[in-house]
Amino acid sequence: MNINDDETIDYVYKVVVIGDSAVGKTQMLSRFTKNEFFFDSKSTIGVEFQTRTLNIQSKVIKAQIWDTAGQERYRAVTSAYYRGALGAMLVYDISKRESFDHVARWVEELRVHADKTIVIALIGNKADLEEKRAVPSEDAMEFAENQGLYFFETSALTGDNVEAAFFKLLEEIY
Ligand code: GTP
Repeated sequence: MNINDDETIDYVYKVVVIGDSAVGKTQMLSRFTKNEFFFDSKSTIGVEFQTRTLNIQSKVIKAQIWDTAGQERYRAVTSAYYRGALGAMLVYDISKRESFDHVARWVEELRVHADKTIVIALIGNKADLEEKRAVPSEDAMEFAENQGLYFFETSALTGDNVEAAFFKLLEEIY
């Protein structure tokens, strides 16, 4: 359920979305906040955020979700991006092995810049591209388990599991 009355908000949760370029970070976010998807999504330059207000255990939570460029040249990674973040969505593309191989690097960046208590979800996006799969679910599951991360495979295109992943993250923050 979405609520738009700012007066009633109990908590604002900052969540950051990170991962390699073109894994679908921006599309995950627009699927979750606006139920929209664009094939010709442009690379994010700098930092943007979108919000969605929802109910968790009868509290009104405003999720403020930050999206940044995966491309190194557009990234001004400062502690400011991670400051105050209670959750992180670490996204890779199940059809691109390289994007999964870099996940450890992203976790390291979180460990350096983010709060120790940050809740992290590992997201294998583009699950609709099953015929092009390059990352077995088991590999990701094992990595997530070792690192203490929640794990979901999602499709921003079909919307599969996107809500479930965000809700799980927000519930764990709560
Ligand atoms: P940067 O801004 O460069 O960091 O990229 P990003 O991670 O935000 O990727 P973006 O959301 O812009 O998506 C990149 C491309 O992948 C676009 O062409 C999207 O349409 C496509 N895409 C995103 N999610 C999915 C998905 O779930 N399935 C499929 N098939 N394509 C997707």
